[in-house]
Amino acid sequence: MLIKVLGAAAGGGFPQWNCGCPNCRDLRSGALAAQPLTQESVAVSADGERWVLLNASPEIRSQIESCPALHPRGPRHSPISAIVLTNGDLDHSLGLLSLRESHPLMIYATERVRRGFTERNVLYRTLERFPGQVTWRTVEPGEDADLGGLSIGALPAPGKPPIHLEGNGPSEPGDNIGLLIRDQRRGKRLAYFSAAAAVTVSMRAAFDAADCVFFDGTFWASDELIALGLGDKRAEQMAHLPVGGKDGSLQALAGVRAPRRIYIHVNNTNPLLRPRSPERVQAEAEGWEVAYDGMEVDL
Ligand code: MLT
Ligand code: MN
Ligand code: ZN
Repeated sequence: MLIKVLGAAAGGGFPQWNCGCPNCRDLRSGALAAQPLTQESVAVSADGERWVLLNASPEIRSQIESCPALHPRGPRHSPISAIVLTNGDLDHSLGLLSLRESHPLMIYATERVRRGFTERNVLYRTLERFPGQVTWRTVEPGEDADLGGLSIGALPAPGKPPIHLEGNGPSEPGDNIGLLIRDQRRGKRLAYFSAAAAVTVSMRAAFDAADCVFFDGTFWASDELIALGLGDKRAEQMAHLPVGGKDGSLQALAGVRAPRRIYIHVNNTNPLLRPRSPERVQAEAEGWEVAYDGMEVDL
């Protein structure tokens, strides 16, 4: 299985347009030797010919252009055979509206995420320009999708609805999923959980059986935005388990048997983005990598 990270950042990207936090400021000034990051999206393929996008970020156009494997091979063509959404957050779904140039799209999502994106959304009409422009397929626990040599299954991950749908009722299991992707020929397994408020027993078992895990690396600390004076929500209120601390994911996932363990959906405030920070050194010492745009994993 080929895995290409198109975007490794959380919503807003790195740097974020309205952010003057130390990371964003130092990246702009050149004081921080790091690379800018676009918003989270990953392409996976069993054969290098047909690709499945995990999430559709607002930067999807430049992400596709940055990756030759995703370029058309004919006058009207795309090697992208399907797009899978892990939740309805705009950093994961807004890019769909950019793919409006009259091309048939196959989109996998939970019923809850499909409805959240399509209902009462006048802009969605841009993907209804001809009958059959979008084919929605459900990816729910127990309903694996068979896609070009990849089997794609879903596991509920503790999460919440997107911010623009908060207040419409409580969270439901279909709001947020992780993906379990298996290469049918080689048997290699990817566990893709870019947003998770906690690690469930089923998630832990899936990570132990995986060859590679991508996990929620949004915040290092629960009070990261508060401490920087940038917001009033703790990581948990945004349904992101922090990486550090005694209850963080480094602790919760200590001893996970997957040989590759990679943090993705990293917020621009996260000290993991500073190559020599104590937090980065600690995560790497515990066997974790931090995703970056252009990262490739070959399982
Ligand atoms: C999140 O990951 O918490 C969301 O992307 C936040 C947002 O939509 O701004
Ligand atoms: Mn996000
Ligand atoms: Zn910032």
